[in-house]
Amino acid sequence: MNLNNFKWALVTGASSGIGREFAIELSKRGLNIIAVGRNGQSLEEVADKVKQFSDVEFLIYRADLSKQENVRTLIMDLSKYQIDLLINNAGFGLYGEFIKLELAEIEGMIELNVKTLTTLSHVFANQMVSKGLGGIINIASVAGHIPLPYFNVYAATKAYVYNFSLALWAELRKYNVHVLCVSPGPTETRFFERAFKRQDLRKFGGRMQPDEVVAGALKAFEKGAAVYIPGLKNKIITFVGKKLFPDRFIAKVASD
Ligand SMILES: NC(=O)c1ccc[n+]([C@@H]2O[C@H](COP(=O)([O-])OP(=O)(O)OC[C@H]3O[C@@H](n4cnc5c(N)ncnc54)[C@H](OP(=O)(O)O)[C@@H]3O)[C@@H](O)[C@H]2O)c1
Repeated sequence: MNLNNFKWALVTGASSGIGREFAIELSKRGLNIIAVGRNGQSLEEVADKVKQFSDVEFLIYRADLSKQENVRTLIMDLSKYQIDLLINNAGFGLYGEFIKLELAEIEGMIELNVKTLTTLSHVFANQMVSKGLGGIINIASVAGHIPLPYFNVYAATKAYVYNFSLALWAELRKYNVHVLCVSPGPTETRFFERAFKRQDLRKFGGRMQPDEVVAGALKAFEKGAAVYIPGLKNKIITFVGKKLFPDRFIAKVASD
């Protein structure tokens, strides 16, 4: 699937980290961008950066996508655009013992990581199928391939993203709509700050840079891959987790 055929990309969580790199890289490839996030100032900074090297249209849309009424408004506001490429990237994690996490935060995470991603996929997949062209890139995680104590609900939301994306990949192929699931491992973004709050940030070292993740993801998308796991270490963890040990064993070892 050639990115040159696309005119507009919608990138959720474009204000920081992996989503920011998607917005920058896709604008370098000549796509107009609709960049969504809550932090307007950070989105403006991304827009200013893009203006330095590209004259694509770069629209900023501020919204808290963990609230479904905002997702519905976004969809209505974008009805005049033909979105060719949807990057479902906005998401966050919560680290800690399940019983000690705030229930409201858990619910917000499920809304954003699962429900919003599903709603946007449904709306824009329909548009893409009508046109006979389009692409969706969903950001899952290595955490979605294994049971992960203390990243309990987060890992489960990403298992949803992984399985949902592959099912969608299989269903939409015949309509010339390509779906790619990207499962990054630890990446140098604001993710850990938010997930760990004040806890030990030194865990999960050896992080990749977000631009490496995005460059690999776009290459995988253009090659027509269904799943992309950036980095050899992450590929090994996922393979070992899936093929060599029972899930119960992995869960127990990861909790020790
Ligand atoms: N970094 C990693 O190690 C890692 C590993 C595997 C998977 N991932 C996944 O990669 C994706 C991107 O995360 P990141 O690592 O780039 O972290 P990040 O730097 O924290 O970026 C997260 C992005 O999501 C947006 N976002 C968060 N809550 C939102 C909300 N309620 N409404 C709208 N936008 C919201 C943030 O924008 P605002 O704050 O402006 O709203 C930000 O742009 C996530 O889905 C994450 O689960 C990350």
